[in-house]
Amino acid sequence: MTQSTPKTPPQMPQPDASSDRTTHFGFQTVAEGEKAGLVHGVFTRVANRYDIMNDLMSVGIHRLWKDAMMDWLAPRPGQRLLDVAGGTGDIAFRFLKRARAATATVLDMTESMLVEGRKRADAEDMADRLGWIVGDAMALPFPDHSFDVYTISFGIRNVTRIPDALAEAYRVLRPGGRLMVLEFSHIPSPALQWAYDRYSFNVIPVMGQIVANDRDSYQYLVESIRKFPNQDAFADMIRAAGFGQVKYRNLSLGIAALHSGWKL
Ligand SMILES: C[S@@+](CC[C@H](N)C(=O)[O-])C[C@H]1O[C@@H](n2cnc3c(N)ncnc32)[C@H](O)[C@@H]1O
Repeated sequence: MTQSTPKTPPQMPQPDASSDRTTHFGFQTVAEGEKAGLVHGVFTRVANRYDIMNDLMSVGIHRLWKDAMMDWLAPRPGQRLLDVAGGTGDIAFRFLKRARAATATVLDMTESMLVEGRKRADAEDMADRLGWIVGDAMALPFPDHSFDVYTISFGIRNVTRIPDALAEAYRVLRPGGRLMVLEFSHIPSPALQWAYDRYSFNVIPVMGQIVANDRDSYQYLVESIRKFPNQDAFADMIRAAGFGQVKYRNLSLGIAALHSGWKL
């Protein structure tokens, strides 16, 4: 499957004037219609430093988490993957390396992130099995039952209405298809959570300022992690979208978690 970015991509999510509901953007309360534009701004600003910042902030551990995602997912030959909020392609590249004759579509609402992904050596090597699409997780531009596997890695906490994204995941998966989500989560031990919060709130925004010249975007990152539901609450949201056999695994004591569900 070879797809390219549409000629007239939705460059900038437009505010939804019809809604007076509010949501959170980090610790701020904002109108629902504003959030996508703010998130788009964050990832447009950090796109060209995104990969290096991931390595620095996590001391490379995000790579192990993404490998753990692949271990549990166990990609199979010929499968069709949709990687939503796929950014610079980390998940799609890993999936295609493990599954002969599989295809992957990377969808993201921030075109600059996809542009960075397409510059990577893996993108060139796998070009004939890889597509890049600008789009919104809450309104996927694909027919029902189009994919065998849906992944979203460190993306879902940025989405304005998470239930809408999960409903779309369910719709585009074929019956028997699988959802897997990698996301920051909550550490069950209060003492360890306290220590991790000290690191997150004191170190990561400063690192963002030094490496990406953007403190605010990394302040948003750490705040958005705190606003995301805990492991059990998020598992319930996945069940509410219709998925069965919903399970999760903590990574690094719960700093991150993998959630898996099946369209049965
Ligand atoms: C932290 S990055 C994750 C990138 C990649 N999946 C990874 O694991 O490295 C979050 C990505 O989510 C994208 N995103 C946020 N909200 C989205 C939405 N509603 N639809 C599609 N992409 C979205 C952002 O543009 C950004 O590229």
